[in-house]
Amino acid sequence: MDFTRYLKQYPDADGRFGKYGGAYLPEQLIPAFREITHAYQTICHSSDFINELRRIRREFQGRPTPVYHCKTLSRKLGSCQIYLKREDLNHTGAHKLNHCMGEGLLAQFMGKKRIIAETGAGQHGVALATAAAFFGLECTIYMGEVDIAKQAPNVARMKVLGANVVPVSTGLKTLKEAVDAAFEDYLQNYETTIYCIGSAVGPHPFPMMVRDFQFVVGEEARAQFQEMMGFLPDVVTACVGGGSNSIGFFLPFVNDPVDIVGVEPLGRSSNLGDHAASMSYGTEGVMHGFDSIMLKDAEGNPAPVYSIASGLDYPSVGPEHAFLRDVGRVKYEVASDEEAVDAFFKLSRYEGIIPALESSHAVAYAMKLAKQMGTGSILVNLSGRGDKDLDYVIEHYGYGEKYADFK
Ligand SMILES: Cc1ncc(COP(=O)(O)O)c(C=O)c1O
Repeated sequence: MDFTRYLKQYPDADGRFGKYGGAYLPEQLIPAFREITHAYQTICHSSDFINELRRIRREFQGRPTPVYHCKTLSRKLGSCQIYLKREDLNHTGAHKLNHCMGEGLLAQFMGKKRIIAETGAGQHGVALATAAAFFGLECTIYMGEVDIAKQAPNVARMKVLGANVVPVSTGLKTLKEAVDAAFEDYLQNYETTIYCIGSAVGPHPFPMMVRDFQFVVGEEARAQFQEMMGFLPDVVTACVGGGSNSIGFFLPFVNDPVDIVGVEPLGRSSNLGDHAASMSYGTEGVMHGFDSIMLKDAEGNPAPVYSIASGLDYPSVGPEHAFLRDVGRVKYEVASDEEAVDAFFKLSRYEGIIPALESSHAVAYAMKLAKQMGTGSILVNLSGRGDKDLDYVIEHYGYGEKYADFK
């Protein structure tokens, strides 16, 4: 496939990436999503909007975030060099603010007074609460009770920022149920509210909009690496939950001679219910208003999923990822809980960077690959910082004594 005109061709007018994507909506929401699509298509060609977004990124978010060479970690593994795109240094500590500030600007342009969302790890909730405070909007965040217990610091941050955090106690009480609850709210309140979906998932135009707002990550990283080194990395990699940090990081490299690898959570094992590796073990289906690859139970409903990283435990994946896999441009691999925790402690000890458990999956894969490659360079998107995970990790794994030495 020729990727030179990729961004102009995908998605098509119906929000399709090949057979994936689209918008499967209840009748009464169709006009609301049309209104969002129309507003987005208006402002994304407006110089006022682009200039304001650039100003916000520079002055409020602290962009560009740097690219960093992990010299010690690389040396411990051999001769292959590992680099990080430091989205952990983006304001609020993760990539999520990139699309939340865009969605906040869109809400302002559309005259909406309220923004709502689901959150898993709490990073999207914190980012959206931040955008709401910045733009003076009301904000409600739906979060599963299990995730609330795991991510207490982020729950506190959302509340301090003025958001109403609503605990979700149905089903497994994690991300999927939080999405269901947020959709329910949106159905009742779409006239005053925008549902700012937290990843590159959901009905059209969200996979496209979130991707476009996250594109800055890969665009910066590509230019920064090229300037540092005079060439491009051999491999770029990122963790994949719904797929927002990865799609924005990957696409600027799509037409380059660079291997692109998404890393999904293998959790405790490859048994259904023990992981959330939709791309590796799932099949095509429709969920939450879009067609993609998903994990299903025996009845064909979304299967229960699990990962140590709350932000990765979603039973489907953004439709553009499914498409890029089918056309052979992006490969998807897995990292287990244990490998992610190992990477969490090693990056902390050897580089002084505590990564989010989500991002630790990509670091774990890069560490494994570096040993196999022996030489060359790997650029990892470090999607977020790990402060939010510290209590949980310390309670279950101590201070990482077991992981300090390389085998
Ligand atoms: C730090 C971090 N990285 C990655 C993710 C996964 O989301 P996505 O696949 O949309 O980037 C999350 C989700 O909460 C997150 O908090």
